[in-house]
Amino acid sequence: MLKDTSFAIHPGKEQQTGPVIYQDIGNVLKHTPVDNIYLFTCENGDVAVQFYTDSIVRVVMNQKTEPKLHASKAVHVTPEDVRITEVNSEEVLKLKSNKLELIIRKTPFRITVKDDQDRLIVAEGERGMAYRENGEVTVFKEMNENDHFYGFGEKSGYLDKRGEKYEMWNTDVYAPHNPETDPLYESIPYFMTLRQGRAHGLFFDNTFRTEFDMKSASDYYSFSAEGGQVDYYVLAGPEPKAVLEQYTHLTGRMPLPPKWAIGYHQSRYSYKTEMEVRELAKSFVEHDIPVDAIHLDIHYMNGYRVFTFDKERFPNPEKLVYDLKEMGIRIVPIVDPGVKKDSEYPIYQEGVRENLFCKYIEGDIYFGEVWPGESAFPDFTDGNVRKWWSDKHAFYTNIGIEGIWNDMNEPAVFNETKTMDVSVIHRNDGEPTTHRELHNVYGLFMGQATYDGMKEQLKGKRPFLLTRAGYAGVQRYAAVWTGDNRSFWEHLQMSLPMVMNMGLSGVPFTGPDVGGFAHDTNAELLTRWTQVGAFTPYFRNHSAIETRYQEPWQFGEKYEAIMKKYIQMRYKWMPQLYSLFFQASKHGLPVMRPLLMEYPGDVKTYNLNDQFMIGDNVVIAPILTPSTTARAVYLPAGDWVEYTSGSMYTGGKQHLIHAKLEDMPIFVKKGTAVMQGEWNSNADKTSKNIRMDVYAGDGNGTYVFTYYDDDGETFAYENGSYLKLDVEVISNRDRVEVNVRSKDGDYVPGYKEITVNIIGLKEGQNVIINGEINRDNDKLSLKV
Ligand code: GLC
Repeated sequence: MLKDTSFAIHPGKEQQTGPVIYQDIGNVLKHTPVDNIYLFTCENGDVAVQFYTDSIVRVVMNQKTEPKLHASKAVHVTPEDVRITEVNSEEVLKLKSNKLELIIRKTPFRITVKDDQDRLIVAEGERGMAYRENGEVTVFKEMNENDHFYGFGEKSGYLDKRGEKYEMWNTDVYAPHNPETDPLYESIPYFMTLRQGRAHGLFFDNTFRTEFDMKSASDYYSFSAEGGQVDYYVLAGPEPKAVLEQYTHLTGRMPLPPKWAIGYHQSRYSYKTEMEVRELAKSFVEHDIPVDAIHLDIHYMNGYRVFTFDKERFPNPEKLVYDLKEMGIRIVPIVDPGVKKDSEYPIYQEGVRENLFCKYIEGDIYFGEVWPGESAFPDFTDGNVRKWWSDKHAFYTNIGIEGIWNDMNEPAVFNETKTMDVSVIHRNDGEPTTHRELHNVYGLFMGQATYDGMKEQLKGKRPFLLTRAGYAGVQRYAAVWTGDNRSFWEHLQMSLPMVMNMGLSGVPFTGPDVGGFAHDTNAELLTRWTQVGAFTPYFRNHSAIETRYQEPWQFGEKYEAIMKKYIQMRYKWMPQLYSLFFQASKHGLPVMRPLLMEYPGDVKTYNLNDQFMIGDNVVIAPILTPSTTARAVYLPAGDWVEYTSGSMYTGGKQHLIHAKLEDMPIFVKKGTAVMQGEWNSNADKTSKNIRMDVYAGDGNGTYVFTYYDDDGETFAYENGSYLKLDVEVISNRDRVEVNVRSKDGDYVPGYKEITVNIIGLKEGQNVIINGEINRDNDKLSLKV
């Protein structure tokens, strides 16, 4: 195609554009407080300012009508009763909560937000809120020279997004994901700014195509939308963790996943027959390689019709699901939104008869080409349609399926625009709205329908949902994989900042296709990628049709042994990971974190792309290039112990670390602890013994962590059936203390105690467990 040749940069193609003309919001004409909402009538539009909590304030501007405050697809909480003090003068109105101060200049309307220490968070200068003739709305904010930007959902490129410009428009991109490939499948119009150790957040809740520009100017940034209102929230921080708690207070947190979902998943486009799936499961058992889920890609269906099985390829899916479950393995089938246009296919018939598909305003169903050929698309923006779709999942749950994989839900369509006609009108629960406005939430609503349906039908068991597309809040329903990457080292590298920024965008349960989807993988890449995968929150190996098979044993024994070691390691770390997932479900904190989250005062962490943390005390520094057996590792303040070798390193500097193919450097901070389980077998994945590895420190530190456990598969924890231990580790020159500070819940696990293993105890240091000094080197343990 010509656009893929140098013709694309033909000089005659330069676009001649004139200056963009913005209409500024103008001066404030009057303002009125109404129940914690401050309404401003300005020359060119109306603005509402609303405190959600002490630390969260919302600004809504509508240039045509009164600001709409109840239309959010992402925010499900209502504002708290926030005490505000008000100081009004001719020039400014100051509104102050306990944590935030808004200074609103009246001529023209400009907002400055400060924290409780009078420090600037966001500010507007010459330009503030504005709009254009074509309906586009834009907000300009001053950019500080020390600002670093993170989040923005699923973006390629590096961790720090300063100097970048991004668009939000859910897009199916099979072409290689390059640094300039934007947008991708997920739209999360949210970011966090880190400025000299302090952080704040900004969530632009607009579902239209939006743009964030931190590139075009050096002293301001902007965000804009193709239509709709300006509707954004400022989150006070001041720590990155606080920002994330605030953001997920608004958009929700991930549900606690079933334990099996955080194990290893094996996928392929496609394992095409029941026989092949059985053979695959058997191989995992024979090789003693852990696997919790096998995914069925589109070939399981009859002509790619959702809610069907191909009778020849999968003659007895119920037995398959049952037999595999006996082996400790779950089946996760793919479900795409497109319903094949086929007048003899019941799902299509129902959809047409009951008026459930997306339509044009004139009443015609919208058809688009996807895997099954011409297809109709359920209108998930409507509650009735969601209910219908939810109920349809009985087809899967009735045969024992507990997990679903949603794909193509941008929605992807095989045409020039890659998606549905933007003029399609969605029902939107009684407020008909165009696809142009709701495109970015189509996948979110499909996820909601799927998750809710599965949850209802599983009667107390936790469902698992994986999705490709989503919007802010997607974490409430689904884990996210990062779409069609390739078996390139560059894509392994890119997956780290991508997954970290997803975590900073409120989506902790994320991972790339391990090994790479398109293109042929190779032994070394797959091995290195599997090592990383063992510590990324979502861990699935997936590959495309006609590429080389990439199950862990495909490249011979040498590589298999290494991959097996790391997949098993995932299971050894399960108690630690599960406790972190618990934290994610409670506070919205990511499992996999950039170092800046724990060390926001350390500028060396601000754009550290090739290392990450698991929780607050483990640094992983994988090898991400071929034929490489050493790398520089930056360890932040503290002392660190390498997990496998036991070698010690001082933090606050870089080290050259050697790592042969069988090694991936993992560092645990001294003075902290990690919980470890064991690998038994595929049929029995529950650890009988739990160990707490305490990395003795000597620097007068106290470390507190929460260990969490429960049955791992039901919602019984909601009624108190869990075990939660707050454990503190105190390290002094003369002692290491391990104390259970508090115990919660009435779940009784299979183990009676947690073995305590002290690593690196110094001469002269006593060990004290729960206040008792250990004199005779007994086996140390904590009762549970
Ligand atoms: C899309 C998905 C991919 C899947 C394929 C076939 O490309 O991103 O994961 O294997 O469709 O269903």
